[in-house]
Amino acid sequence: MADSTQTPVDVFEKARTHERLEQLEAAKQGDLLPYFRILKSQAGPVVDMEGRETIMLGSNNYLGLTTDPRVKQAARDALEAYGTGVTGSRLLNGTTPLHLDLERELAEWMGTEDAIVFTTGYQSNLGAISAILDPGDTVICDSGDHASILDGCKLSGARLRPFRHNRMDKLESMLERSTAERSPTLVVVDGVFSMEGDVCDLPPIVDLCKRFGARLMVDEAHGVGVLGSRGAGACELFGLEDEVDLRMGTFSKSLASCGGFVAGTEEVIEYMRIASRAFIFSASAVPAAVGAALGALRIIRSEGPDLFERLLGNAAYLRQGLRDLGLKVVEPGTLPDGTEATTPVVPVMVGEDWQAVLLWKALFDAGLYTNVALHPAVPPGGALLRTSLMATHERDHLDRALGIFDRVTGDFPDLPRA
Ligand SMILES: Cc1ncc(COP(=O)(O)O)c(C=O)c1O
Repeated sequence: MADSTQTPVDVFEKARTHERLEQLEAAKQGDLLPYFRILKSQAGPVVDMEGRETIMLGSNNYLGLTTDPRVKQAARDALEAYGTGVTGSRLLNGTTPLHLDLERELAEWMGTEDAIVFTTGYQSNLGAISAILDPGDTVICDSGDHASILDGCKLSGARLRPFRHNRMDKLESMLERSTAERSPTLVVVDGVFSMEGDVCDLPPIVDLCKRFGARLMVDEAHGVGVLGSRGAGACELFGLEDEVDLRMGTFSKSLASCGGFVAGTEEVIEYMRIASRAFIFSASAVPAAVGAALGALRIIRSEGPDLFERLLGNAAYLRQGLRDLGLKVVEPGTLPDGTEATTPVVPVMVGEDWQAVLLWKALFDAGLYTNVALHPAVPPGGALLRTSLMATHERDHLDRALGIFDRVTGDFPDLPRA
């Protein structure tokens, strides 16, 4: 029997002893914390951050549509028509005609039979993967996959087998294993990896999945509204849309809102509507968010190519500018025709965590905002400054940003150089 006089171990103890607390405290003391900085304006190319004009290279507002008057009007119209919230799940009381229009238009855009809308992108991965997989199944993921994919896998109870980033030989041996075990298998990869910004090597992944009879899901969070002539993502860019079973996207980036979706066959999407707990047991997105996503989608479907060209042109320009400064950028991967696969994410390699934080702060003080990616978001010793572009950045913004990089990095002799 347990002795009730013993001092109990406090379940909150971890909040006091977490390994990162000391570092966090030191960063706070030196005003070096790169997180939770206060944005006091709309997320445009130049923002007011903590009262200072700052060039924004740390937003996922890839097409710049969060400030587009038509998208804002669509959000206002939805707010007026349906109020501030629907106060319940899609299943019971959270489905408006806007949700249905959005699902239909997303499926048309992605070229699939159906699509299901979730309240966040995170829930889309969590809800779809945990509904599809059972404990006897196997799920194989790239080690660079987003946390929401891993959380969905863990929640499902399926056997999780990660393979080293982009290592097709490892993927093949995992598939051999699950085939030998006769375990139904799903492979999940990011179309564009969120921190490094590189495009997945989709053709061999598709071949391997076909060879071993595994299903394939691609997270297009950073690909939709960006890659391919319709902006349908990495699968479109590679001409492999019909070979991929499920495609996930989020509204929090190019679609200028909050929410997410999964597109696929009617059979599987309809199954998610009744089996996905993250869909059934969570309140529906607020009407303004759904209206904004629908407004942005309509703009992308009519004016997309011009926006994609401006965005990717900006990304290529910044990447070349950083290379010309002698900085090391993450290589973006190549397309089957041998050309570089430009994405809106252009990370500068730094290496050690503290160096990345100090460089981030020096850039921030000079009027440039970037995102810091530290372990565990990246492998140990692989700290990055992640820059991301918008279609609405002007060349002048990018030249000013490059000027700041040039001035500031001179004080960092240990930075990896190209
Ligand atoms: C690759 C990837 N998948 C899923 C998500 C989750 O989307 P959201 O932030 O819209 O919930 C993100 C967001 O950062 C992401 O980068």
